[in-house]
Amino acid sequence: MSATEVKLEFDPKDMPFRRLGSSGLRVPVFSLGGWLTLGATVVGDPVKDIIKTAFDAGINMFDTAEAYAAGKSELEMGRVIRELGLRRTDLVITTKLFWGLRKGPNDSGLSRKHIVEGTKESLERLGLDYVDVIFAHRPDHTVPMEEIVRAFNFVIEKGWAFYWATSEWSAREIEEAHHIASKLNLIAPIAEQCQHNMFHRERPEKEYHALYKKYGLGTTAWSSLASGLLTGKYNDGIPKGSRFDANSEFFKETVKKLQEPEGQEKLRKVRELTKLAEEELNTTVSALALAWVAKNPNTSTVILGASSPEQVTQNLKALEVIPKLTPEVLEKIEKILGNAPEDAPSYGRPLLDRFGRI
Ligand SMILES: NC(=O)c1ccc[n+]([C@@H]2O[C@H](COP(=O)([O-])OP(=O)(O)OC[C@H]3O[C@@H](n4cnc5c(N)ncnc54)[C@H](OP(=O)(O)O)[C@@H]3O)[C@@H](O)[C@H]2O)c1
Repeated sequence: MSATEVKLEFDPKDMPFRRLGSSGLRVPVFSLGGWLTLGATVVGDPVKDIIKTAFDAGINMFDTAEAYAAGKSELEMGRVIRELGLRRTDLVITTKLFWGLRKGPNDSGLSRKHIVEGTKESLERLGLDYVDVIFAHRPDHTVPMEEIVRAFNFVIEKGWAFYWATSEWSAREIEEAHHIASKLNLIAPIAEQCQHNMFHRERPEKEYHALYKKYGLGTTAWSSLASGLLTGKYNDGIPKGSRFDANSEFFKETVKKLQEPEGQEKLRKVRELTKLAEEELNTTVSALALAWVAKNPNTSTVILGASSPEQVTQNLKALEVIPKLTPEVLEKIEKILGNAPEDAPSYGRPLLDRFGRI
């Protein structure tokens, strides 16, 4: 990689950058991921077009996982980085370990064996010497937490990753990792890759609440369009070639639920949000939904998913919407959604001022 000729200089344009949690790593407010797209429904030159469009717009952070398209997402991402001639230091590359590629008893999970072997294999597929952040894609309840913390520290000591992080861990599990890291003087996870969108709020907005201040936890939010639901594309059925169509088995339950009262209620909210976006904010519901997650003060980056370069461009319109999300607009959104997580119980005591909470 280091020998590759640099053909494209990175220009951050107007992309705002934030620290990833309490680390010194700066990440763009919008990054790009490869789940179900890169190496799956999108292969070859179109992958290059998507990544180049993002890079040209100021996105220098790309997320993948060993499991995405059974390793093909990492292969495609690595190939495109080389072919576009991107400078490694310009990039923030993140990958995730948990679901390995083979079925052996030690080919998945978070044992020291899989963390070390999985990291090496991911780097090989990416064709990189290191990733910037390596995520534990899920918690592994069959491995002692000390083994997990030590193994990710080993990966960092080896120079295969600069930081480690978690994905879809409970607050209790993140706490445990921090306690062990602190006790053993080791590096703790810096961020959590969590689902966060207008229909999925409890964990990022309530469960992790105390961790943001206590550990400076960062988040790399995923499925901020709820896999496309928040674009309005599923309002009147499942369009051919869309994610729910192309992955019909995986989304079978989701699609079924859309016909039920709960799903119909979600679609009604999408229509109302569309009206608000178009009539009051001169934007699209997609841009509004993405800006809404980015506006959250605990969000470090919103990982975009895109099956075409046009979607990347359309979704980056969200940058213009963030400043339009005034307290009044946010209040209107809350009214439409009606799903804000409840505050922790006060057991009859008067509530603290909002800035005086943990
Ligand atoms: N850690 C985890 O467990 C986890 C889980 C999921 C995702 N992630 C990460 O987060 C990234 C983003 O997640 P996601 O892909 O689910 O994000 P998403 O934004 O909720 O969904 C992206 C999909 O929505 C559709 N879409 C996007 N923009 C659109 C537009 N403007 N108009 C119409 N359709 C549009 C596209 O699908 P179609 O065009 O195919 O319909 C696109 O692939 C992933 O790539 C991955 O890196 C992590």
